[in-house]
Amino acid sequence: MIIRQEKEKDLKDVFCLIEKAFKKEQFSDGQEQFLVERLRKSTAFIPELSLVAEVEGEIVGHILLTKLKIKNETNEFDSLALAPVSVLPEFQGKGIGGELIMKAHSKAKELGHKSVVLLGHANYYPRFGYEQANKFGIELPFDVPKENCMVLELKENGLKGVRGMVEYPKEFNE
Ligand SMILES: CC(C)(COP(=O)(O)OP(=O)(O)OC[C@H]1O[C@@H](n2cnc3c(N)ncnc32)[C@H](O)[C@@H]1OP(=O)(O)O)[C@@H](O)C(=O)NCCC(=O)NCCS
Repeated sequence: MIIRQEKEKDLKDVFCLIEKAFKKEQFSDGQEQFLVERLRKSTAFIPELSLVAEVEGEIVGHILLTKLKIKNETNEFDSLALAPVSVLPEFQGKGIGGELIMKAHSKAKELGHKSVVLLGHANYYPRFGYEQANKFGIELPFDVPKENCMVLELKENGLKGVRGMVEYPKEFNE
């Protein structure tokens, strides 16, 4: 398997893969493939952080990190949203999602980003170092259990002094 930056020629395959990956997901609206299309056209998009996993020429996984803000009354901070990560159903459970997540982290760190925010499964992401956002005084704008709202410091003290409400790119709300 190789993990590489998404290219123009991959877009159709990535669209289909996201649709298939989320089809049976309980908490999905089945629209994640359209979210990715909107984010690609937005100012939040970072081409180097849209990655695909390829096995024998077939795109089997995708991950996207985009820019977001964490804001309080006096300050605003840059961070990243991890959303979505998708692996084709028949390739799930083989470590591909994990590889995509770790590669996206290392690339983001290399680009100088300090932290990542996500809404996700409480028993999956802690293995990659994610912690509950509320421990840092960071809130996500969703009415969901606090266990599902997570953040990761990409470097030591990456969230030092950062507290406030996460503001996702507007494309998440469309
Ligand atoms: C979540 C996803 C990207 C993980 O990719 P993957 O390649 O299957 O993951 P890995 O093989 O690296 O890791 C497998 C682990 O993920 C866990 N996992 C996968 N989907 C999960 C889910 N919906 N809820 C909780 N844990 C999940 C598995 O239980 C397994 O855990 P284990 O190692 O303790 O047995 C993939 O299952 C997927 O595309 N799911 C549908 C889309 C989705 O829900 N995306 C995440 C949105 S937050």
